[in-house]
Amino acid sequence: MSATSIPVSDGKATTPATPGPAAALRVSINGRDFESDRDMLLIDFLRDVLGITSVKNGCKEGACGTCTLIIDGRTVRSCVLKLSKLAGKKIVTIEGFTEREREVLAYAFSAAGAVQCGFCIPGMVVCAKNLIDQNPDPTREEAKLAIRNNYCRCTGYIKIIDAVLLAAKMLRESLDVPETSPSGKVGERVFRVDARPKALGTARYADDFAFEGMLYGKNVFSRFARALVLSIDPGRALAMPGVVAVYTAKDIPGKRYIGHLAQDWPGMIDVGEQTKCCGDTLAMVVAETRDQAEAAAKAVEVQYEELTPICTCDEAAAPDAHQVHGEGFSQFGKWVVPSNNVLYREFIKRGDAEGALARASYVAEGTFFVPPVEHAFMEPETAIGLPDGDGIRVITGGQGIYDEYHELAAYLGLPQDKVRIQSAAVGGGFGGKEDMSVQHQAALCAYLCKRPVKVWFSRQESINYHPKRHAMEIHGRIGCDENGILLGLQATIKSDTGAYASLGGPVLQRACTHAGGPYNYQNLDVEGTAYYTNNPPAGAFRGFGVTQSCMAVESLINQLAEKAGLSGWEFRYRNAIRPGQALPNGQIADSGTAMVETLEAVKEAYERYEADPDFHVGIASAMKNAGIGVGVPDIGRCNLAVIGGKVHIRSSAGAIGQGVQTVLLQIVGEVTGLTRDQVEVEHPDTRLTPDSGTTTASRQTTFAGEAARVSALQLKADLDRGLSLAELEGTTYQGEFDFKSDPMGSPKPNPVSHIAYGFATQLVVIDRDGKLVEVVAAHDIGRAINPLSAEGQVDGGVAMGLGYALTEDFPLKAGIPQAKLGTLGIPKAAFMPPVKTLFIEKNNPDGVAFGAKGIGEIVCCMAAPACQNAYYKLDGVFRRKLPMEGTYYRKPKN
Ligand code: FES
Ligand code: FES
Repeated sequence: MSATSIPVSDGKATTPATPGPAAALRVSINGRDFESDRDMLLIDFLRDVLGITSVKNGCKEGACGTCTLIIDGRTVRSCVLKLSKLAGKKIVTIEGFTEREREVLAYAFSAAGAVQCGFCIPGMVVCAKNLIDQNPDPTREEAKLAIRNNYCRCTGYIKIIDAVLLAAKMLRESLDVPETSPSGKVGERVFRVDARPKALGTARYADDFAFEGMLYGKNVFSRFARALVLSIDPGRALAMPGVVAVYTAKDIPGKRYIGHLAQDWPGMIDVGEQTKCCGDTLAMVVAETRDQAEAAAKAVEVQYEELTPICTCDEAAAPDAHQVHGEGFSQFGKWVVPSNNVLYREFIKRGDAEGALARASYVAEGTFFVPPVEHAFMEPETAIGLPDGDGIRVITGGQGIYDEYHELAAYLGLPQDKVRIQSAAVGGGFGGKEDMSVQHQAALCAYLCKRPVKVWFSRQESINYHPKRHAMEIHGRIGCDENGILLGLQATIKSDTGAYASLGGPVLQRACTHAGGPYNYQNLDVEGTAYYTNNPPAGAFRGFGVTQSCMAVESLINQLAEKAGLSGWEFRYRNAIRPGQALPNGQIADSGTAMVETLEAVKEAYERYEADPDFHVGIASAMKNAGIGVGVPDIGRCNLAVIGGKVHIRSSAGAIGQGVQTVLLQIVGEVTGLTRDQVEVEHPDTRLTPDSGTTTASRQTTFAGEAARVSALQLKADLDRGLSLAELEGTTYQGEFDFKSDPMGSPKPNPVSHIAYGFATQLVVIDRDGKLVEVVAAHDIGRAINPLSAEGQVDGGVAMGLGYALTEDFPLKAGIPQAKLGTLGIPKAAFMPPVKTLFIEKNNPDGVAFGAKGIGEIVCCMAAPACQNAYYKLDGVFRRKLPMEGTYYRKPKN
C-alpha cells in the first residue's frame, strides 16, 4: 500500500507523501505493512499520513515521551526515528493493542485518576503495556522506572503509577473490566468524562484536526530580543515550492495590537519598529506542507539593527533606561505611555506596619529571588483557522474562548458575529494559554488565504513565546511579640513582566494582597512594581503571584518562629486565621475558613518527623483566592440543553486538565438525579456555549459550578412536574452566577475582596542526604466535588512546587531563553516522593457550588518555602534564591 493511497480510518484528510525517485520505504505498523515514497520521521508518518492520533508531538526533540510507541518489545520515541531505519521492525501503537488491553488500560487510567490534560497519557499507556508484557507483576519502583523518561506536567506521576499497577493486576489475574458506575454525584470518586478517549489517544487536540486543502502557517520570529527591523524581504520565500503567501504587519486588516487588559502586544512587528522580545513575529509564511512552511520561514530575509535589551528590573528602572513601550499602548480604551518602564504599581496599606515592627520583640528580614518559570504544558500551541462564509472559525487549545473571540474579531476587523471559536481538548495550560499565541495568526492566514490554515509552535517556539511565571525580587520584614503573635509586615516586590503586559498587573496585585499570608494581623505595608523588560513576557501561572510572595514570607515566618523559640507549626497555630477574624487584607474570614484545621491535620506527621533524627521536616501555609474578585466583573455561566433525549451541558469553562467538565456533570447529576448516560458535556464553542470567563484564579469549579447548579435546579423543577426528557426536547435552561466583590482601595473597613479563600498547610520531609521522602498536604477545599480528581490536583501542584524549589530554572541571555524542554529541570517520575493528601471539608454543603473552593492554584504555593525550611534544618543554610542550590538535587554553582 502506498502512503498516498492509505485509507484513513477516522475520516481525517491526509498529507500526501511527496513521490520521489527512491524505492518505497516499507514499515510494519500494528501488524500491517505500509509504504512511503519518501523518508520522514516516524511521528510524521503516523500522524500526518496515517492519521494515528495516539502518538503525540510534545517536543519533536526526543525529550518528552508523548510520542512513545513500541518497536520489537522496546519503548522508543517516534520523533527521533526515520522510516529508513525501520525496515523489518514491528511497530506497535495503542491502536494495535488487543481490545482487551485497550479496555483494561483505559479503565485502569480512568479509575486511578491518572488522566488530567491527557496529552502525555498515551505515551504512559504504551510504557505500561510494554512493562506488563515483560513483567506481569511489577513493583511500584518498577512501574516508576517504566515511565522514567516521560514527562507529565499535570499529575505528579503518582496516579499514573497507580494505574500501571492496577492494569498489571487486571491483566495478570484476568479480572473483568467493571462497569463504570452510572451515578455521578457530588462527592463521589467519579471517572473523568474524558479519561477514556485521552488514555486511548482518540481525544482530539488542536493538532489532531486536519481538513481538506489545509495549509500550514509558520511564524518568522525575531532573532533578537531587541532590534530595529530595517527590512523584511519575502521574495526568496515566495519563490519556494508550495509557498502560498507571506504576510506582514501591513496585511492585518484590523487592530494589530492584542492583549486581554493592555493592548500592547503587536501581532506582527512592522519595518521601522523595534522588536520587544524574541517571541515577536515579523511575518507569517503559509505553505502547502509543514516542511515547506518551515523552510520558507527560514528563507524570509530580515535586516536588523541589533540593540541592547533591557534584561532586569533594575536596568528597566534606571533613570536613562530605554523605554520598552515608549510609543505607548491602549488600555481599557485609554492611551497609556508608561514611564520608567513601569507597567503597574500596587500599594497595600493597612494599620501601622512600621509602628508594629518597631515594637516587635522579634523581627525576620530578607530579600528573596525567584526565577521565571516555564509552564511546559505538554501540548505546544496549535490552532486552525477555517474560512466560515464571510467570517472565520478557529479551533483552539486556549484557556478562554471568549477572550480569543473578542480579541480575534478586533485583529481581523470583523464584527464578533463573524467569528466562532471552538475549543479542542487542551493539553495543559496552567495559565500559559490565557494569552493568544497561534489563534490570531491562524485566523489571519485562513481569512486572507481563504483556505484552512494550521499554525503550530515547535516546542522551542512555545518556550520562547508564551508568558512565564514572573521572576520577582521580594524584600520582607516581619515581626511578632514575645509570644510569637504576628504584629506586622513590610514588603517590597519587584516583578519582571517582560515585554508585554499580559496579566502582569493582576499577578503583582495577588502577590501583594496575599503577602500577609493566612494569619490574623492587620498591620501591612506592601509595595509592588512590575517592570517591562525585553525578556519573554510573564503572565499567569498556577499560583498567580502568590507562589512568589509565599516563598518569601513563609520562609521569613519560619525564621521568626525560630527567633521566638517556637516550632513552625506552633507559630502558625497561634497566628492562623480563624472564622470571624480579619485577614491582613481586611476581609473577614467566613465560617467555612479551615486554616486551623489544615494545621491540625498535619500535626501528628510534623511532630513525628521532628522527633526522628533521620528526617527533617519543613512547613509552610498559604491562602489563595477563588475567583477574580477585587470588584472585577466575574460571572460563571452554564446552560443545559435537552437534545436527542439527553441533557447537554454547555459552558465555555476551559477544560485544561483540571477536570471541570466532570465537576459540571456531577453537579447536574446531584441536582437532577440524572445518570451519566443521560448527560453529555460539550466542548466550549462561542456559537453554543455561554461565556463563563477564562479558566483562571481557581474559579471555574465555583463559578461555572454554581451556574450549573442554577440551571440544573430549573431542569429539576420541570422533571419534578413529571415531564420527561423527550417532552423537554429543545428546551434550554440558562444558569448564571455573578459575584460582586469590593474593588481594591474600597473604603469599607473590611472589604470582601473574593468570594472565598482556600487555605492549606504542606510539609516537605527530606532524609539525612537531603532526598525527598514525603509531602503531606492538608487543604481546606470547602467541599471536594470529586475527591479523585482533587487529589490529582494536589499531586500535580506539589510536583510543580517541588520543581520550583529544587530543579526548575529558566536562564536567559540577552533576553533569549537558553533552556530546552529537556534542560528546564521539570520533575520526572523518579524525583517525586509520595504525597499524602488530607482534605478538610468545612463549608456549608448547601452553599455556592455545594461549598466547593477551587484548589488548582494553592496546591503549588507551599512546597518551595517548606523545602527551604527542611534544608535549613538539615544544613543551617538559609536559602533565599530559587531553585535552591547545595541540595541533593542541585549542586552549588561555582
Ligand atoms: S515528541 Fe517525541 S519525545 Fe517529545
Ligand atoms: S496529564 Fe500528563 S501532561 Fe497532562
